Amino acid sequence: MSDQQAQKQAAARAALSYIEDDMILGVGTGSTVSCLIELLPTLKLAGAVASSQVTEDKLRALGIEIVDLNFAGTLDVYIDGADEVNAHLQLIKGGGGALTREKIVAAASNKFVCMVDASKSVEILGRAFPVPIEVLPQARSYVARQLARMGGEPVYREDFVTDYGNVILDTYDLDVSNPVELEKQLNNIVGVVCNGIFAANQADVLLKASSNGVEVLT
Ligand code: 5RP
Repeated sequence: MSDQQAQKQAAARAALSYIEDDMILGVGTGSTVSCLIELLPTLKLAGAVASSQVTEDKLRALGIEIVDLNFAGTLDVYIDGADEVNAHLQLIKGGGGALTREKIVAAASNKFVCMVDASKSVEILGRAFPVPIEVLPQARSYVARQLARMGGEPVYREDFVTDYGNVILDTYDLDVSNPVELEKQLNNIVGVVCNGIFAANQADVLLKASSNGVEVLT
């Protein structure tokens, strides 16, 4: 097993301490979350709200009851991974394309616990990883032009459609030095459904795994 995979597993094990019996858990998407999902059958959950169809399918396969967010009320805890995280626990997410549903479930939860391996920590968001932006299909070219005017380089994610039937523009070279402002600015472009900057609603707890163990940051 690679060191990175071992770190993902360690972060997932650490996340278990935030889950209580009879809870309806918000469950994110991605390979780190997959490590967590494998551990869930050992717990006594009331159910789970899934942040993507992929996660929903994995949870169902393990016999975990899926709850519609509209009937779940406010969730106590949402657990997810991230593509990048800075020192303020602000994130870039959406590498797996589930950013909109992830942002909805995170917003509807009292506590967002984020699990990362050491490779995800950065000083400034968006320098290495592009900002994924979910866009209504008809607005793709218009939004791409607006992003280019902001200095970004949008790349259309080929052969990918989100759970909501939209497309993704992975946008390089945006200035993410003020993540809260940029998140708002991107949301204001007509045709943008959601963007992968999680700054207005950043993680509440970061479980940062490295070869030395898992650090808990709040
Ligand atoms: C999916 C996400 C994931 O949380 C992010 O891509 C991290 O994935 P992984 O745990 O596989 O590195 O935002 O949309």
